[in-house]
Amino acid sequence: MSTIESILNETRIFQPSQEFIQQANLSGMQAYQALCAEAELDHQGFWANQAKKLIVWHKLFSEVLNDKTPPFYQWFRDGELNVSYNCLDRHLATQGDKVAIIFESDEGEVIRSTYRELHRRVCQFANALKSQNIKKGDRVVIYMPMRIEAVVAMQACARIGAIHSVVFGGFSAKSLHERIVDASAVAIITADEQVRGGKQNPLKATVDEAILMGNIPSVKSVIVYQRTGAAVPFNPMRDVWWHEITQNASAQCEPEWVNAEHPLFTLYTSGSTGKPKGVQHSSAGYLLGTKVSMQWVFDYKPADVFWCTADVGWITGHSYVAYGPLAMGATQIIFEGIPTYPNPGRFWEIIQKHQVTTFYTAPTAIRSLIKLGADLPTQYNLSSLRLLGSVGEPINPEAWIWFYEKVGQSRCPIVDTWWQTETGCHMIAPMPGAVPLKPGSCTFPLPGISAAIVDEAGHDVENGKGGFLVIKKPFPSQIRTLWGDPERFKKTYFPEDIGNGHYYLAGDSAYRDNEGYFWIMGRIDDVLNVSGHRLGTMEIESALVANPLVAEAAVVGKPHEVKGEAVIAFVVLKGQYPQGEEILRLTNDLRDWVAKEIGPIAKPDEIRFGENLPKTRSGKIMRRLLRTLAKGEEITQDISTLENPAILEQLKNPSK
Ligand code: PRX
Repeated sequence: MSTIESILNETRIFQPSQEFIQQANLSGMQAYQALCAEAELDHQGFWANQAKKLIVWHKLFSEVLNDKTPPFYQWFRDGELNVSYNCLDRHLATQGDKVAIIFESDEGEVIRSTYRELHRRVCQFANALKSQNIKKGDRVVIYMPMRIEAVVAMQACARIGAIHSVVFGGFSAKSLHERIVDASAVAIITADEQVRGGKQNPLKATVDEAILMGNIPSVKSVIVYQRTGAAVPFNPMRDVWWHEITQNASAQCEPEWVNAEHPLFTLYTSGSTGKPKGVQHSSAGYLLGTKVSMQWVFDYKPADVFWCTADVGWITGHSYVAYGPLAMGATQIIFEGIPTYPNPGRFWEIIQKHQVTTFYTAPTAIRSLIKLGADLPTQYNLSSLRLLGSVGEPINPEAWIWFYEKVGQSRCPIVDTWWQTETGCHMIAPMPGAVPLKPGSCTFPLPGISAAIVDEAGHDVENGKGGFLVIKKPFPSQIRTLWGDPERFKKTYFPEDIGNGHYYLAGDSAYRDNEGYFWIMGRIDDVLNVSGHRLGTMEIESALVANPLVAEAAVVGKPHEVKGEAVIAFVVLKGQYPQGEEILRLTNDLRDWVAKEIGPIAKPDEIRFGENLPKTRSGKIMRRLLRTLAKGEEITQDISTLENPAILEQLKNPSK
């Protein structure tokens, strides 16, 4: 509750400056309200206009929204387009020589790629994919470092109508395996190694390990980009080098015109139960969402140098690296490394060097940058910046103010953008030339996005009261289904009891203040938000229980200064309850185990051993008690239903 209360106390308001308002794509609250009213009056007409304006159609749609079989909505469904054409070809005649990507490697090497150059590379690689017999509708897993090539791979898939599924390079072989199996991928695109913060991490070896886990007869080829030149295992029957298959490939590749609803990609994300969910996005609706939000929220201007720091392994890197900026014809930065290497000023150095105008990052990064040197930004010339953005979790007002004053020099609005893997693009976020900002609030829904806060029965709650965040009307960029599991899709996002199965349930709780500003309070399910990434507690628990020593495990979150939430695991061993030094050894072993099972991001920060877990008489683990224990707070809740109260003492004190 403490974080919610501290947000509640926040009353500061930051008006956009006259200078910003004058140059903004949308100026003043009235203009914003007029756009919302237009969408309200004619939801479909509003989106149809945007779609006609922003997308180059091969064949124009005649139907806007098909809502005959909710929640399986279809937008612009008889239209035809190609997303890669919309990101590349359309710019060639007007700005082929404009720099599309300024790439900076971990070591500091800078490569600039123009739209013409990027188009050539994408076409060549698309032809290379075809030479591997990859066709429209095939699934391709991409497990790549954060480099131009990752974007080339995604765009090339889009060009031939293949459905990509990017797996973040920090995921383990096991997580990768699970995703390859679920997608029945025909190919994997990877690199020999990735380099971050001066360290080499194997990617190809991890792919091999995943393939060795079996049950993936679908994979016919593994395409390997040579990043470091390290010796890697190579199976000539299956593996090919990126440079070899592209070297003689033609630079002409007619785009595959696909239906508006053709899946552009799937991206796996954690849920509260079961395996990760393959969130499936469409081509046209998704593209429209990323483009419209580039204009509205990022106030995109052709002279901008846009930098979204997210990895392409996450949705933010899809929408605001691989697609949105290219669809707008923007110049953007792609950075391979980490903020602290080779020194804690790396981000500021990049902004200064490349004259970045728009800087979009996550609260967890902002908090760690504060820790690294709260005054560091002032040593750099950051005067090129005009807009800042935040995504992934609620930004605490202290971090907001620091970002505003030290990075934006009290000149740049901050767009706090609420959205999700499933929504594809921003949903609730300020239009910076219109909406006065309150630190910690994502402000108001975008035009055409009918976000609301409702109670368990689906009724609107009054301002000041918390409830479920829903989106009442369908919107173009929304998730279409979960790959291979439409039932789970329906149950998770459109539950019958809330809005009769017609409201999109985001899984977050939120409230509106008395001026209608939205404040996100957190997840309503057992999903943790660690460094802006969603982790299902259930996945970490399954990983722990898969260890031969572990009998039972329960995972909860605890507020963390930098990461937002820390992972705390309560573990019951099969054998003896550990003592003394054994505790430390087992803790390290189990942390490494989870890193191997899921990826380092899921490593528990703390493990507490007990002879049992607090359970009700019917055997249900009482998680709310574990949450209290994790925070080190006294238990004040009712424990009368607890079967084994004595266990609380043991779990309270991790070292005894
Ligand atoms: O809980 C919300 C939080 O992140 C969740 C979505 O996570 P993911 O699908 O991984 O996408 C992250 C990047 C869009 C949401 O359900 N979240 C995201 N942005 C914000 C946020 N919470 C508060 N404020 C935000 N701006």
